[in-house]
Amino acid sequence: MNPQASRPLALVTGASSGIGLELARQFARNGYDLIINSEDAAGLEAAAQSLQAEGGQVTTALADLRTRDGVHTVLETSQSLGRPLDVLCANAGVGLGGRFTETDLDTELDMIQLNVASQVHLVKHVARAMADRRDGRILITGSIAGLMPGSFQSVYNGTKAFLDSWGEAIREELKEQNVVVTVLMPGATETEFFHRAEMDDTKVGESKKMSAEDVAKVGYEALMANDDHVVAGLKNKFQALMTNILPDPALAKLHRDMAQPNAEKAAAE
Ligand SMILES: NC(=O)c1ccc[n+]([C@@H]2O[C@H](COP(=O)([O-])OP(=O)(O)OC[C@H]3O[C@@H](n4cnc5c(N)ncnc54)[C@H](OP(=O)(O)O)[C@@H]3O)[C@@H](O)[C@H]2O)c1
Repeated sequence: MNPQASRPLALVTGASSGIGLELARQFARNGYDLIINSEDAAGLEAAAQSLQAEGGQVTTALADLRTRDGVHTVLETSQSLGRPLDVLCANAGVGLGGRFTETDLDTELDMIQLNVASQVHLVKHVARAMADRRDGRILITGSIAGLMPGSFQSVYNGTKAFLDSWGEAIREELKEQNVVVTVLMPGATETEFFHRAEMDDTKVGESKKMSAEDVAKVGYEALMANDDHVVAGLKNKFQALMTNILPDPALAKLHRDMAQPNAEKAAAE
């Protein structure tokens, strides 16, 4: 018999760096075996090695979640272990900064595939299995970006608005089937995110950010406490509160100030 089979099992997507890696570490430290996913083989292997040091079994699922095949690979990896999933962290995601008329269309359509379509695809299968067993927990990494119109990062904020809303919606349905759904809503966090999103030269890119470890701890605790959603960090909680008070045009203007490239701002002055 597999000696690890009595340990719970968590699947974390986008676990090679940043918030996903730290979420995986939280689960490992709390006695979970892991399935971790990302698309870059070297990064995934390095993450697996670092997580194995926490004890427990770590299985890798190398897959590009922009594609349906990638989602199937992750699901097949999970099924091949012959154990039910206790936790899914649907976390993989990317951003893209820039003026909408100038950003690359293919990059944005890929981002919608990854941040939205693959989440629906993966969670559909995992939630059905959890509902059948009447047991399981799903943590969706949304964002406080989903609460405001994201000028100069517009498509990304739209994808996170989808996740923030959809997570709450399926939570309401799944609670009857004894499955917990929690939306983790980080604000600016120190990860690869802003560099990958071409946002180094922006106010938010240069700002002091929360650590991925702190964000992951908040997410882990909220999921275990059966919270519907959680905004990570006091400053971000305040920012989230402001989105309830200010009208959308004012929020869009504030977002422009955070996300418009500094060089473009300077040239306009
Ligand atoms: N950082 C922030 O300020 C912030 C704030 C709010 C929400 N978030 C959300 O937090 C989540 C994690 O982002 P992060 O900040 O931790 O950034 P990150 O350090 O760049 O991590 C992104 C993770 O997603 C993976 N990934 C990217 N494209 C993928 C693909 N096509 N298929 C599979 N995996 C893929 C990356 O793996 P590879 O390296 O292999 O591509 C990496 O493991 C995202 O959903 C992001 O929207 C971030």
